[in-house]
Amino acid sequence: MHIDIRCLFTYIMYAIHTFVDILICLGLPLGISGQHTVLSPVDPVGWEGEPLTLTCESSAEDVVGFGWNSRNRSDSSWFHLVAIIYNDVANLTCAFPAAEWAPNAALFDYNCILRTKHSLTLKNLTFDNRWDEWVCRSYSPTIESSHVNVSVLVPVKLVNIEQPTVDTLRIIENSSYTFVCMVMRSLPAASVLWYHDNKTPGLPADDVTLTSRALVTTEEILNADNGPQVELIPLFNIPEGNELSYKCGYIPGNPSEATFSWSRTSDDKHWNGQTLIINSTHRSDDDIYTCKVSNLMTTSENETQIGSDIKTMRVNVQYRSDISRLQTKSSKYVSDAYDEVSTMEAFRYETLGK
Ligand SMILES: *[C@@H]1O[C@H](CO)[C@@H](O)[C@H](O)[C@H]1NC(C)=O
Ligand SMILES: *[C@@H]1O[C@H](CO)[C@@H](O)[C@H](O)[C@H]1NC(C)=O
Ligand SMILES: *[C@@H]1O[C@H](CO)[C@@H](O)[C@H](O)[C@H]1NC(C)=O
Ligand SMILES: *[C@@H]1O[C@H](CO)[C@@H](O)[C@H](O)[C@H]1NC(C)=O
Ligand SMILES: *[C@@H]1O[C@H](CO)[C@@H](O)[C@H](O)[C@H]1NC(C)=O
Ligand SMILES: *[C@@H]1O[C@H](CO)[C@@H](O)[C@H](O)[C@H]1NC(C)=O
Ligand SMILES: *[C@@H]1O[C@H](CO)[C@@H](O)[C@H](O)[C@H]1NC(C)=O
Repeated sequence: MHIDIRCLFTYIMYAIHTFVDILICLGLPLGISGQHTVLSPVDPVGWEGEPLTLTCESSAEDVVGFGWNSRNRSDSSWFHLVAIIYNDVANLTCAFPAAEWAPNAALFDYNCILRTKHSLTLKNLTFDNRWDEWVCRSYSPTIESSHVNVSVLVPVKLVNIEQPTVDTLRIIENSSYTFVCMVMRSLPAASVLWYHDNKTPGLPADDVTLTSRALVTTEEILNADNGPQVELIPLFNIPEGNELSYKCGYIPGNPSEATFSWSRTSDDKHWNGQTLIINSTHRSDDDIYTCKVSNLMTTSENETQIGSDIKTMRVNVQYRSDISRLQTKSSKYVSDAYDEVSTMEAFRYETLGK
């Protein structure tokens, strides 16, 4: 019977390592006092898409090689064997007594720097590697290193304002609006700063940093819609018989297009248009007049709201004093001298202008 010594050796070594792996999985200490194995860096940090190198070093000078294990911290899986790399002492290179001990060439590089110092490189760090926990150990004696956790940094590559979706936002004054900034996957999580542009787009120098959840008043936003405001004098004097033509003053809102209406208190009569016209004023036109101005505000989402304001004005119709009644009265009496005297008295009723 022919025995393949190499095959047998490989099998025995594999059995030993499998046994050691089981001990590691069970968390049993494998250290031998006085000697130690160190996995560095203690806190490995790498960029996504970039390589990350771990180094395992032993204080024992006659080590034959190193084993590498990792586990996925997030699903608390057990450590699995990534590679066992031996020294080819004669050629000062790495050796793999069993082909299955070699690391996956698509994912890892390795380097047997010294007999006592090997490195393993994750060729292309991925987002999922952020859960990796690593441990290495030296053979023989088998001494396990401390565990290290890989941190993956993902730079911010894409920032997008998700809300509003329009370039120019229209909102209604004093209404609230939520702006949403979306940062694509980044590690550690991105902190988002908002800037208030100070109405000069393209000039960052005068921008103001807002704290998160900052309240911005609508005056600070370029396109806040707001209602118009009426401006009237409180009292308007006009002589009776004259044409009254009075234009309702206003401060335009946004949008500035406005509609007007006039009304008065006593008979609820209405006029459309900005100018109140009464061709020939009569004293009955003496009244309290109300001007109402409105605009139609439309948000970017096509929600509409009417902005309006009203003010009143007293129209004082003036007219002259006049004689309203002339009464004649005759009286007769007989004097001792039989004189007959007639007298006429005029009574004047004066009506004063109100
Ligand atoms: C790293 O992996 C990502 C995702 O698999 C791939 O898109 C990228 O091209 C890889 N980078 C390198 C340098 O191989
Ligand atoms: C290592 O060196 C030995 C002799 O010293 C040689 O026979 C063997 O081919 C070398 N192996 C490699 C991988 O170069
Ligand atoms: C680790 O586990 C998480 C959750 O199960 C999974 O999303 C991730 O892909 C795993 N990472 C690796 C490298 O397998
Ligand atoms: C690595 O992560 C595990 C699980 O979250 C934790 O118990 C351990 O302390 C971490 N180790 C280091 C060196 O941060
Ligand atoms: C908007 O709010 C300000 C301050 O609270 C207030 O002075 C103003 O009257 C409000 N405007 C409208 C149209 O409600
Ligand atoms: C006022 O006068 C204008 C023309 O001067 C006329 O068109 C209009 O009908 C008049 N209005 C009233 C209420 O009489
Ligand atoms: C708002 O209305 C205008 C005109 O009708 C239309 O072009 C636009 O797509 C509408 N916008 C939204 C957000 O519905």
